Amino acid sequence: MKRLKWFFYILIGALVLIQFYRPDITPRQVDVSNSDLLTTISGAPAKVRSACYDCHSNETVLPWYAAVNPVGIFVRNHILEARKHLNFSLILDYPTEKKIKKLNECAEELREENMPLNSYTWMHSNARLTGEEREAMAHWFETAAAAALARDMNNQ
Ligand code: HEC
Repeated sequence: MKRLKWFFYILIGALVLIQFYRPDITPRQVDVSNSDLLTTISGAPAKVRSACYDCHSNETVLPWYAAVNPVGIFVRNHILEARKHLNFSLILDYPTEKKIKKLNECAEELREENMPLNSYTWMHSNARLTGEEREAMAHWFETAAAAALARDMNNQ
């Protein structure tokens, strides 16, 4: 019984201590251009923002439960990792080749049902996509890749 009591003291102590660890998700790079992918490439499906932007942009809105660790650490690390791979706030300033590659990968990830992450759609019902919404969004990303290529070539 005494051992169990100690176990709980230590557990509570650890849970209190872990609250002080907050990976910083303040965007490091300031947006270079003020244009946004969604406003630049017309016809964006309404759900791109609700399904992708909390992780893949500098416009993250943290859910309330991210205030409590260890869930907060999990959420913040996902955001940092996601932005490192792909950041829609910065994508228009990626070099052409990288931009095209990432936009096409978006279509691929959508069709393979890898994105948005399941751990996200559990808690965010407005990020859940039907098969049709997935396909429409994948198609829009491919259009965006083609449009980005055309734009960049015209600017050169
Ligand atoms: C909960 C956070 C989260 C959401 C929401 C999310 N992603 Fe991701 N995404 C990640 C993480 C983390 C990675 C990197 C690790 C991985 O591949 O699992 C990633 C990787 C990717 C990659 C691969 C990039 C590369 O360079 O390999 C693409 C493409 C992508 N996401 C597209 C999307 C699209 C499109 C949406 C919206 C439909 C979306 N993601 C929604 C977290 C998220």
